[in-house]
Amino acid sequence: MEQESVDLRSDTVTRPTADMRQAILTAPLGDDVMGDDPTVLALEELAAEMLGKEASLFMPSGTMTNQIGVRIHCKPGDEFLCETNCHILNYEQGAFAQLSGVVGRPLIGDRGVLQPEQFEGMIRPENDHLLRTRLVCLENTHNRGVGRVQPYDSVEAICAWAHDHGLRTHLDGARLFNAAVASGITASRWASHFDTVSICFSKGLGAPVGSALVGSRDSIKEARRHRKAFGGAMRQAGVIAAGALFALQHHVDRLSQDHAHARILADAIEATEGLKLHALPDTNIVIFDVDPALGPALDMVAALRDAGVLMLALGPAMVRAVTHLDVSEAGVRQAAEVIPRAVQELLTGRTSEASQAASY
Ligand SMILES: Cc1ncc(COP(=O)(O)O)c(C=O)c1O
Repeated sequence: MEQESVDLRSDTVTRPTADMRQAILTAPLGDDVMGDDPTVLALEELAAEMLGKEASLFMPSGTMTNQIGVRIHCKPGDEFLCETNCHILNYEQGAFAQLSGVVGRPLIGDRGVLQPEQFEGMIRPENDHLLRTRLVCLENTHNRGVGRVQPYDSVEAICAWAHDHGLRTHLDGARLFNAAVASGITASRWASHFDTVSICFSKGLGAPVGSALVGSRDSIKEARRHRKAFGGAMRQAGVIAAGALFALQHHVDRLSQDHAHARILADAIEATEGLKLHALPDTNIVIFDVDPALGPALDMVAALRDAGVLMLALGPAMVRAVTHLDVSEAGVRQAAEVIPRAVQELLTGRTSEASQAASY
């Protein structure tokens, strides 16, 4: 039987565990648009409780929870401030502009991290010619910023500045629980600085589908209206909420294993000539550059793939690996051994042609 590849392309590739499948199979169901799916209600209650907020709303994706987060804080002609490499700005098709008539204004961060001083003077004066600055969006952990945990004091200061100036705050917490586990700061403490928080169940937590937007009762009531208009109101949604509920109950603490595994990969990359680690991982994301002498990142990805390890090219010279629930320590150690061998393959020119479409 052919051996399965070690799939490090993303933490979204996990498949439900046997116990999670059982939870899905036996979940009580109802019509969630009518508000009576007990599994969705249980998930929403637990998500709100874990984040220390009044309410939450289940949706199919992190893109939708982010975009509805923007939608409830901004009107057409408003803008939000964010970090230049954040997901909301770069990887959601500018949906805030397409769907809500809103503009995103990026500030340049250091691997996803902004300093409070950068916000000074960023609020536009009230003037018929200008956009209205309404919202600050942060991302924690920061995907493109090597899964970095935001410095807590900066987050606190940025959000205090925003609130002092009448702005709202939204957190893209697709990997907030990674940040909580890595920092020892609870998810609710991180969330306390934000008006709304988006969390994803389908990333590190290992559920097949789903995200939640969490916030005050009033903002979630408003979000519910928009979810309907965006096409995200689902009927017997407990079928998927059950996986998310199981993930929230059982898969948070184990994220520390993924972080330890990322460190094993990072050490192997650091020890390999021709590869340059962006930074030691705080959490489960490892990003490195491939020396141009070895060829483009796509060749590196192809050499790894030929040796049974899947990673993702994030740019012409940049590769990302993400650890998760479906990669064991043995798999990670296998990948760590394959990395220097793949570089050798590139040096000796024996790699097959890169056939993978560019993913960046
Ligand atoms: C930081 C971040 N936010 C939001 C999303 C969007 O999530 P989804 O793919 O569920 O739309 C992702 C997806 O990878 C992400 O990494």
